[in-house]
Amino acid sequence: MASLVKNGERNGAGAPSAGAWLSGFGNEHSSEALPGALPTGRFSPQKCPYGLYAEKFSSTAFTAPRASNRRTWFYRIRPSVTQGDFQPMDHGLIRGAPITETEAPPNQLRWDPLPIPAKAADFVDGLVTMAANGDLRSQSGMGVHVYLANCSMGERFFYNADGELLLVPQQGNLAVRTECGVFDAAPGEIVLIPRGMRFRIELPDGPSRGYVCENYGAPFALPERGPVGSDGFANDRDFLAPAAAFEDREGKFELVCKFGGRLYRAELDHSPLDVVAWTGNSVPYKYDLSRFNVMGTVSYDHPDPSIFTVLTSASDTPGTANVDFVIFPPRWMVAEGTFRPPWYHRNVMSEFMGLVRGVYDAKPEGFVPGGASLHNCMSAHGPDGEAFEAASNASLKPVRYEDTMAFMFESRYVIQPTRFALECPQRQRNYVDCWKGLRRHFDGKP
Ligand SMILES: [Fe+2]
Repeated sequence: MASLVKNGERNGAGAPSAGAWLSGFGNEHSSEALPGALPTGRFSPQKCPYGLYAEKFSSTAFTAPRASNRRTWFYRIRPSVTQGDFQPMDHGLIRGAPITETEAPPNQLRWDPLPIPAKAADFVDGLVTMAANGDLRSQSGMGVHVYLANCSMGERFFYNADGELLLVPQQGNLAVRTECGVFDAAPGEIVLIPRGMRFRIELPDGPSRGYVCENYGAPFALPERGPVGSDGFANDRDFLAPAAAFEDREGKFELVCKFGGRLYRAELDHSPLDVVAWTGNSVPYKYDLSRFNVMGTVSYDHPDPSIFTVLTSASDTPGTANVDFVIFPPRWMVAEGTFRPPWYHRNVMSEFMGLVRGVYDAKPEGFVPGGASLHNCMSAHGPDGEAFEAASNASLKPVRYEDTMAFMFESRYVIQPTRFALECPQRQRNYVDCWKGLRRHFDGKP
């Protein structure tokens, strides 16, 4: 599907606000902020309308199969090469894979929410790496971060060469200004920013906290539906890309990039968000998690949590993801004769979980919004003693899980916590005690 959104109201003076949307995941979209800015009939005319430069932004190899090929053509005031030299800068608590500063313990790990700092910290300053896996230089695995921000990025812009960014806001709204356009996002929504896309994040309502999956691997895509059919899970139409909007601003700006696990900065004499028109399928998205069409049993047993997969980054082994983004949203539980919470589990895949709001059914205590847990390859996990007793004796009438939103980054690679994550005071050193109340029921009788 192709569509063209025109937005003549945006004249480029100052910073435009969020507005029109283009709907659909992976679509070939087109958008122009000035009438006629988008060349027709070819991508690279000898002279572009309005004196713009054409620039191609490739998110997959040129020869990636057509179904998974992603690229966008930008028509911009200046090409992206007009920038100063990059110089290394302090990367604070940001780490990249492979993490060599620690050994990954087989223990189950859990954390209380990290506090938002008192001193000024924008989205980049406030990034804290909790864990990573794979190897960013070979473009496999992921980084798991938390952002703890209390101010907007101002005249600073950022791009991440190491991976695509999946933001999961937990507290506070975001205004995301990208090369493709402007959009806002609130807790309960997710934001997907392609690898390398330049953006800045503003905080319209004050301090913000959220989770970040930095996907080093294949770009996230919607999972196959199999026998479920042509609709359901995350529907393509609910992914929203912004319409073109540009900044025509000159002055003193800073471009920060993350490359090879480290941060660098370069000076700019103009805003890099100067794309007046674009066409392509490598675009930022937001998605409202409440739109997820939840599938589950209507007879018995608890299906695998893969049934809650929103997005998947494939590895080179079919069905074995580089990373899956999985959610546990509000839903009805109706299973008959069944232990309804997630079953006890040991998994070859590694599971990093967070909680946006509410209560997670396997852990009514200790796993709180803004917190996190990590159950690595073959580390046992499951409902705590309180959840087991309650679920084993519950009346099995239909029950609705209200106002909850837990999620999981699940990966084929062992997830290595950072030194900060292992040593910070928010790590719950007594986490394993939550299973101590699981007493034996076996008495040798059927
Ligand atoms: Fe599990």
